Amino acid sequence: MNKNIVIAIDGYSSCGKSTLAKALAQKLHFIYVDSGAMYRAVTLYFLRHHVSLHNHEQITEALKNIHLNFHSRDYQTHITLNDEEVSDEIRHMPVSDNVSAIAALREVRHEMVKQQQRMGRSKNIVMDGRDIGTTVFPDAQLKIFMTADPNVRAERRYKELYAKDPDITLEEVFENLAHRDYLDTTREESPLVRAADAIILDNTNLTPDEQLQFALDKVKPLLSV
Ligand code: DC
Repeated sequence: MNKNIVIAIDGYSSCGKSTLAKALAQKLHFIYVDSGAMYRAVTLYFLRHHVSLHNHEQITEALKNIHLNFHSRDYQTHITLNDEEVSDEIRHMPVSDNVSAIAALREVRHEMVKQQQRMGRSKNIVMDGRDIGTTVFPDAQLKIFMTADPNVRAERRYKELYAKDPDITLEEVFENLAHRDYLDTTREESPLVRAADAIILDNTNLTPDEQLQFALDKVKPLLSV
């Protein structure tokens, strides 16, 4: 039987999950899905429409009005929110500062997980996030859990953000990451936790090429079945 292959990559914020996931998908000709972008786009909508996080009716109503789509071009994340391209805006600080609180909402998670599971039903995919190997695809054939030194992570993210926003400080970025780690690992609904069968990849001292090679070595046995 030819079952499609799902590769789940989970881990902390700014660990290089998306860099590895993209490279892997490109190499294997799999579809790449950035699940964090979905939570970010929902957050952007909630901020714009002043959705109260304590009002369940408002949240449910808002979710009905949110239509997300990925447009795969050169393995970069291009996501539209109700047909508007929001790929850049979802990376800005107002979204980063609020996304973990919104991603912790039960209604939001249920809706996103449903959509993510639909994407992996029939195609070979690489999906990165926080709960992909635990909740979205507990049966994924390969699960990688990424981690790296918090200072190294903050520096990497700072360099990315500084190019777009020179007012940003390293301290601000570090605080944002630490806060998100805390919220992501302590929330009630599918918190960030390593799946028992996930392989740990600490990339503090690894180049992107070395990480790709590590993952490809793990994928190889799946492809030859
Ligand atoms: O990967 P990222 O930094 O773009 O993710 C943004 C936020 O979304 C992150 O703080 C946690 C949340 N997230 C989640 O809860 N579950 C996922 N599968 C992916 C992201």
